[in-house]
Amino acid sequence: MSRQRAKLVVGNWKMHGRIKENAALLSEVAVGASALQKSVGVGVCVPCPYLAQSQALLSGSVVRWGVQDVSAHEKGAFTGEVAAEMAADFGVTYAIVGHSERRAYHRESPELVAAKALRAIDAGLTPIVCVGETLEQREAGSTEEVVGTQLEAVLLALTEEQAASIVVAYEPVWAIGTGKSATAQQAQDVHAFVRAKLAEKGASVANVPLLYGGSVKPENAHELFGQQDIDGGLIGGASLKSEDFLAICQAALAEVQ
Ligand code: PGA
Repeated sequence: MSRQRAKLVVGNWKMHGRIKENAALLSEVAVGASALQKSVGVGVCVPCPYLAQSQALLSGSVVRWGVQDVSAHEKGAFTGEVAAEMAADFGVTYAIVGHSERRAYHRESPELVAAKALRAIDAGLTPIVCVGETLEQREAGSTEEVVGTQLEAVLLALTEEQAASIVVAYEPVWAIGTGKSATAQQAQDVHAFVRAKLAEKGASVANVPLLYGGSVKPENAHELFGQQDIDGGLIGGASLKSEDFLAICQAALAEVQ
């Protein structure tokens, strides 16, 4: 059993979902999450076109909603981008920034991710800052160097107060969507490292929620969430099925009780 810190479970739908199936999924998650106590926060990060739908179906429930990215710019001629303030218009709580798919496919640098985190905070959103190494980097023994560099860029751009308001998600790239989760010990080791890095920024920063992401399933959620420095999860594939997502939320609840 981990220490008595509240847990947070956030779904990352990625580019999945259509209006009809979303309606069922959002409603089921809202109903299921209402049975959880306040000690577990629940969120879903949906594709932007479905923000209004999420707002309509989740308002008044305990489930918060979010976006999967925001622009590093406030406004202007940036075709196709979505500003953090636009997301805020739809009652959004969370903004994932620096997901490895954005870093890899859109060449997002640590500095760009930091700018996005700052934009999210300025718009009143909570950035979920993703960090993580590739398999090649892990095998080369550079996990801490990679994760440290990604994290430092964000911490450098934020004041201590701002940094204390973020969420960090450790997502080893080799575990995302592969069905091959990090072991609880591998995850805990990196989380402890991340926690120590955050503590360097200030005592209040050391307490930010640290989520693990990468093939979290109902079967492995208990062990992962039972680790000292794992405060919950960022859930991809398993967040698309209400039954699995809610089972993962229940696992989080079991680890705070
Ligand atoms: P996964 O994705 O749970 O499908 O591995 C996690 C993520 O990319 O956030």
